[in-house]
Amino acid sequence: PLQAPDVGRETMLTDIWGTPDVLRNLLQVYMKNGSVEIPGLREKLPAGHGLAGKTPLEIMSACSQKRMPSGFMNRFSVIGSGTSWHATLLAEYLIEYMARIPVEAHYASEYRYHEPALRLGDVVIVVSMSGETVDAVESIRQITRHPEMGKSVLKVAVVNNSSSSLASECDLVINVRAGAEVGVASTKGFSATGFVFELLSLALADECDTWSADTERSSFVKRLQELPESMKEVLDREAKPLMQTSTDKPIGIGECPLWDIGCQNVLAQNFIFLGRGCNFPVALEGAMKCKELAYIHAEGYPAAEMKHGPIALIDEFMPVVVVCPRADATYEKIKSNIEEVKARNGATIAITEKYNDELEQLCEYVIALPETHEYLMPLLAMVPLQLLAYMMGILRNNTVDHPRGLVKSVSVK
Ligand code: G6P
Repeated sequence: PLQAPDVGRETMLTDIWGTPDVLRNLLQVYMKNGSVEIPGLREKLPAGHGLAGKTPLEIMSACSQKRMPSGFMNRFSVIGSGTSWHATLLAEYLIEYMARIPVEAHYASEYRYHEPALRLGDVVIVVSMSGETVDAVESIRQITRHPEMGKSVLKVAVVNNSSSSLASECDLVINVRAGAEVGVASTKGFSATGFVFELLSLALADECDTWSADTERSSFVKRLQELPESMKEVLDREAKPLMQTSTDKPIGIGECPLWDIGCQNVLAQNFIFLGRGCNFPVALEGAMKCKELAYIHAEGYPAAEMKHGPIALIDEFMPVVVVCPRADATYEKIKSNIEEVKARNGATIAITEKYNDELEQLCEYVIALPETHEYLMPLLAMVPLQLLAYMMGILRNNTVDHPRGLVKSVSVK
């Protein structure tokens, strides 16, 4: 079927299409004169809190290696489920890279039974779009219920719903402002959360004074501000033709490169998604979208781990999607992973910058993206991965907006 959802109807495709607007709005609301101004971030905690008189920004940045070069550092944990867990992994990379704060990412379903050993000044951020996922809410409640820990830890909710149960338990609520999603599987919610962590990492890097030069900061901020437009460029090429498709106007071959890639690979039974550094969480999320929307088994791996197992599975029936930006410090190593896939007749679908033309000979398909900062690439690369899974779901005649067995938020124990 070369037919996309009815033109004009709200679908998951409209969720993905709306991502640049969500990011533009976040920039407008959370950035003032080049500095990050998330409400509450610079407000002192009230009397009665064990950390009263300190701001969340001060408490978080006290966990930085730069602030405590040789001494004791507080724990900084980020917790979530499903797609939100992938966002916590991305947060781990971004905050560590930019603010030199060691971050631990946890599954909420595991963390809630940990009885974690927390101390005065530790930071716990729980990410949940609904703010109602029971494991996420219980992760914070086990802290608030504790007589001493409850007041000595900074509790932060990153949510898409400020009046949720999770938000009501926390000292600081950061709203990702993604708006409602049509799709049960999260798309723009993930991108908005990732973007909020880019902003938070920027605020922390400023506070911890971890930029090595002013130019380093300004080039990041410039790319951050360009990101909505860069995403729009990708969507115009890859999603617009699909949005305009109807029974009378089926999508033409070559009109939309990703659709062609979807058509070529839709019968695959397995996929591997690879990425390194901050693109590894995106490989995981790409694999999850593939399972949720296309019902195709997929695994996400840090690229170099391929040789520790998955390589045994690679043959001509195994498409391998590789996020491999030229700007990545490990690019050459990822390229050699691609060569290993080619040697085994696997078909590689590479995602890289459009100026990088050296993958054409090596890969079956190349998805070209506008140039961006290496720390922002995960958010840009996520868009084609969401679209590819969505398109394969449509091609397989799946109910992509409401995948079987999934609910928007798991709020029962
Ligand atoms: C369910 C949804 C996922 C979502 C997860 C966490 O499993 O199907 O798309 O990522 O819950 O939801 P949350 O609201 O906590 O982010």
